[in-house]
Amino acid sequence: MVFTSKHEESSPPIVWITGGGSGIGRSLAHTLSNMGWIVVISGRNREKLIKTAATGGKQPIQQMTLDVTDPQSVSRVIGEIERQYGGIDYAFLNAGDYSPMRLKEFNLELFHRLNDVNYLGVVNCLAALLPGMRQRAQGQILITASLSAYRGLPGAAPYSATKAALINLAESLQPELSQLGIRIRLINPGFVATELTEKNDFKMPFLITPAMAAEAIQNQLLSKRFEIRFPTTFSWIMKALSWIPYRIYFALMRRLLK
Ligand SMILES: NC(=O)c1ccc[n+]([C@@H]2O[C@H](COP(=O)([O-])OP(=O)(O)OC[C@H]3O[C@@H](n4cnc5c(N)ncnc54)[C@H](OP(=O)(O)O)[C@@H]3O)[C@@H](O)[C@H]2O)c1
Repeated sequence: MVFTSKHEESSPPIVWITGGGSGIGRSLAHTLSNMGWIVVISGRNREKLIKTAATGGKQPIQQMTLDVTDPQSVSRVIGEIERQYGGIDYAFLNAGDYSPMRLKEFNLELFHRLNDVNYLGVVNCLAALLPGMRQRAQGQILITASLSAYRGLPGAAPYSATKAALINLAESLQPELSQLGIRIRLINPGFVATELTEKNDFKMPFLITPAMAAEAIQNQLLSKRFEIRFPTTFSWIMKALSWIPYRIYFALMRRLLK
């Protein structure tokens, strides 16, 4: 493996993964640690982080608890990583929350909660990461949004709106960050079998395992593309849906609701 950071080849990249205590984040932590990278995982629940570290990875996986909705705890963890290991080369802003919501169950609290975790949680991480990355003129930030955010989907408004906001955020920041030597990228997964999607009561098309998701991320990590998306066929279907006229799109969605 050729390391793409400014580190010497003998000095592996430093990786930070939020939401590393389960699902995609856990598998990704195992995959990157198996590549010899220094991996630090974060989440609210210490037991889940310990389980990630105990169940895989060649290199020991470090754990630091935080709540992404609390800017102070985010700053504390990033400061701690940089003191102990050096500047973060790859920050995977992967922590997220989800609950389906049909219109008849309109839930204001859910909108606020998902916005605080999924969208503002990422903004809190950016605010704490960017000063160090700007100083080093180096670093890569990978934000996990979703294929479900290309277009509004019935039954997922509080969730997919936050993920659409993340796509817009990354697109907005990319031009200026690239001039500073910092890469910002999107990871857009399709359906992955995790605690998050256990709440879905429908058959999820093109469902993959967290290990398959981590492999897809690993395979596209060293590419120059802005967007890492998978699984391929489903991602093209979702892209195509985002290109069709509203009239046809809404007719299709109404059929889906039946
Ligand atoms: N599964 C899918 O089909 C799918 C598809 C598209 C996108 N995604 C996105 O992929 C990412 C990972 O999700 P997943 O499917 O792997 O689900 P998951 O297993 O539920 O992982 C989500 C992680 O986020 C952490 N988290 C939640 N709230 C947090 C907070 N306030 N502060 C810090 N950490 C927090 C959780 O840990 P704690 O509870 O310990 O805090 C958990 O480990 C999410 O952003 C999700 O939206 C998933």
